[in-house]
Amino acid sequence: MSKGYRWPHRHLLGLEDLSAQDIRHLLRTAVGFEGVSTRSVKKAPTLRGKVVANLFFEDSTRTSNSFALAAQRLSADVLHFSGKGSSVSKGETLRDTARTIEAMGVDVMVCRHHHSGAAVQLAGSVGCSVINAGDGQHEHPTQGLLDAFTIAKRLGRLETLDLDGLTVAIVGDITHSRVARSNIHGLLKLGARVVLVGPPTLVPKAFVDMGCEVSSDFDAVLPHVDVVNMLRVQFERIAGHAFPSVREYAACFGLTTRRLAKARPDVLVMHPGPMNRGLEIDSAVADGPNSAILEQVAHGLAVRMASLFLVTSVKPRTKRSASNPV
Ligand code: CP
Repeated sequence: MSKGYRWPHRHLLGLEDLSAQDIRHLLRTAVGFEGVSTRSVKKAPTLRGKVVANLFFEDSTRTSNSFALAAQRLSADVLHFSGKGSSVSKGETLRDTARTIEAMGVDVMVCRHHHSGAAVQLAGSVGCSVINAGDGQHEHPTQGLLDAFTIAKRLGRLETLDLDGLTVAIVGDITHSRVARSNIHGLLKLGARVVLVGPPTLVPKAFVDMGCEVSSDFDAVLPHVDVVNMLRVQFERIAGHAFPSVREYAACFGLTTRRLAKARPDVLVMHPGPMNRGLEIDSAVADGPNSAILEQVAHGLAVRMASLFLVTSVKPRTKRSASNPV
């Protein structure tokens, strides 16, 4: 890390906005926070007195609980808002919802939303910090960060956080995947070679412009990669898109035990979850010795603690009022 570096971002909206130095600084901060989860008292006073609001307009198991626990481990107060059962059903907008929650005295807003760009819109509407927990097909930055952390840790690159010389295959529906976009931005910035694999309808050649390689031949790519990141088939987003039958997809792009035998013996198998077992990944592979899937979840906690800590380390916009004019 160059001398005098200071984390500059009040929001964490996407890995496209971060430099390699920012990403390495965040991951290094996460290494420091990893130890908190192994203490007998799993608590640090870092965010005591701060309030973190989790706004989830779309379902989540990993991200919402991981952010809640990360905030609690840092001693913050945590408010959970779910779109379901709220006044969103009465037509309240994202902006009004967010400003209402912010008025309760929030320092960080973590937001998942089905619209691409929702987190950016939120950052322009509120005075507190915003962390994108997944917006439509755009980005899922903390997933990209925890994936990079997992690769670096499992492949002995945690010291340097340099992924130079490593090849990562991302397999599946790249077009609709915010996880893929954040992975692509993060991994390329850290020096990895990224190969996108899937049916041509879901992996357009345009991704080459981002610096990736593109293939529809999983069997040809698999023997040459260090990491294979299997994406969930997102049936909820694919509607109307050209897609082979489920059986054909599994035959061409599913990671079965038989197919895994073509890979290097120590290939790292990843999946962001939730998994469609038997479709993009077989249970024997997901639960097998190459799998880092549960480690990804564990690393998510440290990465989210680091994210919460860093965004709150940047001075918030000053709120002016008649009684507080400075
Ligand atoms: N990986 C991920 O975002 O999972 P959730 O949808 O359960 O948060």
